[in-house]
Amino acid sequence: MTATSPAETSPTAASENPAILDVRGLWKVFGPRAADVPGSPLAELSRAELKERTGCVAAVRDASFSVRRGEVFVVMGLSGSGKSTLVRCLTRLVEPTAGEIVLDGTDIRRAADKQLRDLRRHRFAMVFQHFGLLPHRRVLDNIAYGLEIQGVKKAPRYSRATEMLDLVGLTGYADSYPDQLSGGMQQRVGLARALAGDPEVLFFDEPFSALDPLIRRDMQNEVIRLHREVGKTMVFITHDLGEALRLGDRILVMRDGALVQTGTPDEVVGAPADDYVREFVRDVSRSHVLTLRWIMRPPEAGDALDGPELGPDVVIKEAVPTVLRADRPVRVVADGELLGVVGAAEVLEVIAE
Ligand SMILES: Nc1ncnc2c1ncn2[C@@H]1O[C@H](COP(=O)(O)OP(=O)(O)O)[C@@H](O)[C@H]1O
Ligand SMILES: [Mg+2]
Repeated sequence: MTATSPAETSPTAASENPAILDVRGLWKVFGPRAADVPGSPLAELSRAELKERTGCVAAVRDASFSVRRGEVFVVMGLSGSGKSTLVRCLTRLVEPTAGEIVLDGTDIRRAADKQLRDLRRHRFAMVFQHFGLLPHRRVLDNIAYGLEIQGVKKAPRYSRATEMLDLVGLTGYADSYPDQLSGGMQQRVGLARALAGDPEVLFFDEPFSALDPLIRRDMQNEVIRLHREVGKTMVFITHDLGEALRLGDRILVMRDGALVQTGTPDEVVGAPADDYVREFVRDVSRSHVLTLRWIMRPPEAGDALDGPELGPDVVIKEAVPTVLRADRPVRVVADGELLGVVGAAEVLEVIAE
């Protein structure tokens, strides 16, 4: 297949939405005189050289990106690439070394302690790999915990917590204790607790990494369902490409603290920015991720132009029956405009890879 880039960037559900979170030139350097690194010649060194010369680790290097309101924004990279540090900087659980973080007009880096506490209580929520449930509290009390800290009165607190309990499919477990639940169920409690405060942005740091593959798939579907139902902005860290492709509206790929690529799943798979990303996506079934815009070609003389019509964002796998059944090319049409055609040859080339 020869696709290098799609004819236009593919619209995702959240693609027209404005940014809720804007990050510019963000650095996190650990080590002696860390603040001297950003903006100096040291900033040009590779992570390994910097470590050797100064003893500093550049966990996040000059990161700039925006998260759009309502999208699932995935941060992906190998272990040690800086994902956790990056996301912790966004809520200042880790203090950034340099750069700018703006949440919906609020300058996070300038926020004073009290404002920061309010942000963490009301506008952000985090879900970690280790569920962090309080073992001596019932499930319902765990879900209500954040609300209790916010000072919400008992009756509304429990009514909201019960609503969240139902939302994550744990109806009937209100009085159980965490250790009576499976890992997957405990993480559902974690999800319910995070959603209870009605945050604007949910941060997930590899929340399903400790779960068995089948449960993990379950939980991914749960996140997709919850995202549809509550429509929250989600920043989701994972080192698992399958998880990234399944959940992400867009994916940011990190390597050695730096951003390598930001794009929709089909952009990352169809046009990897470098060998690191290429290696990541090597084993993906491209027909499951790429859309018709990646394989369509201009019509040629002799093409019958009265074949079936499909949109450019139809995933190739979904289009296969239509394409193979038709005795003429499928027309790829958006807003009444013919963008290209796709025939059996184009489809089979992808499937045969
Ligand atoms: N508190 C710290 N002090 C020193 N180095 C750290 C600290 N936290 C993380 N690092 C280093 O920063 C790099 C990125 O770590 P991390 O953000 O945890 O990566 P990831 O979440 O992608 O696995 C790693 O090299 C790690 O060792
Ligand atoms: Mg991590």
